[in-house]
Parts: sequence; C-alpha cells; structure tokens
Amino acid sequence: MSELVLVSPADCLDLRSRILRPGQPLKACNYPGDADPRCLNAAVRLEDDGPLVAIGTLHHDPRDTDDASSEVWRIRGMAVEESCRRQGLGAQVLKTLQAVAEARGGGVWANVRTPAREFYAAHGFVAQGEEYELPGIGPHVLMTWRPAP
Ligand SMILES: CC(C)(COP(=O)(O)OP(=O)(O)OC[C@H]1O[C@@H](n2cnc3c(N)ncnc32)[C@H](O)[C@@H]1OP(=O)(O)O)[C@@H](O)C(=O)NCCC(=O)NCCS
Repeated sequence: MSELVLVSPADCLDLRSRILRPGQPLKACNYPGDADPRCLNAAVRLEDDGPLVAIGTLHHDPRDTDDASSEVWRIRGMAVEESCRRQGLGAQVLKTLQAVAEARGGGVWANVRTPAREFYAAHGFVAQGEEYELPGIGPHVLMTWRPAP
C-alpha cells in the first residue's frame, strides 16, 4: 500500500537533506516559504506510521516577471527515496501539488534539476529557456505548468 499524507516542513527535512542536500548543513534544507501558511507538503509512506519515502512542497512564490500573476506557485523539494523510485510515488506527490495549485488558481514553476526534467515533462511541465548551473547543486532548467483552461 502507499498512503498520501500532508506533513509539516520539519517532517521533510530528513529526505530533503539526504537526497537533495547531502553533505550540507541541515539548515540548508529549510526553505524561505516553509513558514508561510500557504505552504503545503505532500508525502507518501508505504505503511502506517512508517517513514516518508516521497516528498514535495508547494510554496506561494510569484516570479518576478511582467505578468506577476502567471506563475504564482513554486514546487520544490521533490525527492523520492532511491530504493522507491520509478514506482509512481513521485507522481503521486507531484499530481497532488498540481491539483492543489489548480484549485487555488495560477500556474506553477520549478527550478528543475536536469536529471528530473523528463519526470516533470511527463506531468505537463514545459522547459523555459536554457539550462543553467546552480552553484553547489548542479545543472537546472526552469519549467512551468498551467492547468488546462
Ligand atoms: C525525480 C524524482 C522525484 C522522480 O520520482 P519517481 O517516484 O522516481 O517518479 P515516478 O515513478 O513517479 O515517475 C513517473 C514518470 O516520470 C518519468 N520519470 C521519472 N524518473 C525518470 C528518470 N530518471 N528518467 C526519465 N523519466 C523519468 C517517467 O515518465 C515516469 O513514468 P514511467 O516510470 O512509467 O516511465 C526522483 O527520481 C528523485 O527523487 N530524484 C532525485 C532528487 C531530484 O532530482 N528531485 C527533483 C528536484 S527538481
């Protein structure tokens, strides 16, 4: 079984740290939007009270663009335990975050790690512009998604 649960940012720190920021201080795994009441963290666990094996976070984070309302929500911190990948767990989390963003109105953007690009593309995200390097993390590409009209 897999169960989708809503959790706190603190609950996400272990996976964020081990998968997304290995070797960096735990405080690097706190995001500026975590304290915002609109922050939503979706997660999956495989057994009652078991550890989280997939996580993802939705923040209210309008981009500094001409049309500031166009991409209001940001997805970050998507991570799946290595032994649990390619089983649809990341998709469960991402679809939940997309559904919440759609219900709240507005589009979604994410700074996507290049190896995860196909994962986001499989869920309707479109790359914008060229890849770029985030120091200490690696190559990324900006990707956006809007609900169907
Ligand atoms: C990216 C990540 C979250 C995907 O989670 P996942 O649970 O493995 O993904 P899913 O099983 O839900 O995959 C759904 C679909 O996405 C695509 N996909 C997922 N991982 C992929 C990969 N490595 N390469 C190509 N396509 C991929 C496929 O279309 C897949 O469907 P399929 O398995 O039927 O082919 C996971 O690989 C991960 O934690 N990676 C390390 C951390 C990371 O890079 N996070 C993203 C930060 S932007």
